[in-house]
Amino acid sequence: FSDSIASQPLRGLTVLVTAGPTQEPLDPVRYLTNHSTGKMGYAIAEAAAELGAKVTLVSGPVSFEPPQGVDVVRVTTAEDMFEAVSEAFAAADITVMAAAVGDFRVERIAQQKIKKDGRDSITLNLVSNPDILAWAGGRKRDDGSQILCGFAMETEHLIANAAKKLAAKHCDMLVANNLREEGAGFATDTNIVTVLTPGTSDPKTPQIERWNKMDKTVLAKRLMLRLAAMHRQSDA
Ligand code: CTP
Ligand code: CA
Repeated sequence: FSDSIASQPLRGLTVLVTAGPTQEPLDPVRYLTNHSTGKMGYAIAEAAAELGAKVTLVSGPVSFEPPQGVDVVRVTTAEDMFEAVSEAFAAADITVMAAAVGDFRVERIAQQKIKKDGRDSITLNLVSNPDILAWAGGRKRDDGSQILCGFAMETEHLIANAAKKLAAKHCDMLVANNLREEGAGFATDTNIVTVLTPGTSDPKTPQIERWNKMDKTVLAKRLMLRLAAMHRQSDA
């Protein structure tokens, strides 16, 4: 029994992960997206499965195969991702949102290809997408038995921005990285993160840990082990 706890500390837990970019169509041939490759989120889903969890991975369009033993829900837009997450969230003990979700979509998708028509400029009218992480933060179980982890990629004011997101989205952990740092960010095999958790005495002052540069697979495993420990504490 203790052996299985050691090798499979997430046994019996359900983990929900979001990963990859979203694509927001403009017309039948074009879309808005970002540089996310899904590498971090897929590593997290894989680590969770290896550690014994039942894993649902809600994934935007990415180019690699899903990890073994993981249930994949493929989505395209932020609204699709929101729908998939809203179906899976209630059953999840630990949720990690690593997706790079498009903040905006066009108000109306053009039915036909948008033509140049000799114009020098055009304006896209964008409306905001649902914030999936904030939605989840607002409907976690009251007893603290659902652990929620968000990510943040920043180009400036890393700690201040991440602390705001941690609090505003009611996360139990926020993993922030600086896009400008060598060995962090999109498409790299490694990441350098700063991990924020709510302060124990003053929730407005988060606890902040800077982790060394490490492989995304190693980071994924460490994050999952930490989140599992937080979940066990909530059970105690
Ligand atoms: N996120 C989400 N749904 C959105 C936007 C973001 O679930 N519509 C999640 C991301 O998956 C990530 C976290 O929120 O876990 C932070 O995303 P980020 O883009 O860094 O933060 P935003 O709140 O969108 O703020 P901004 O882009 O203005 O920095
Ligand atoms: Ca955003």
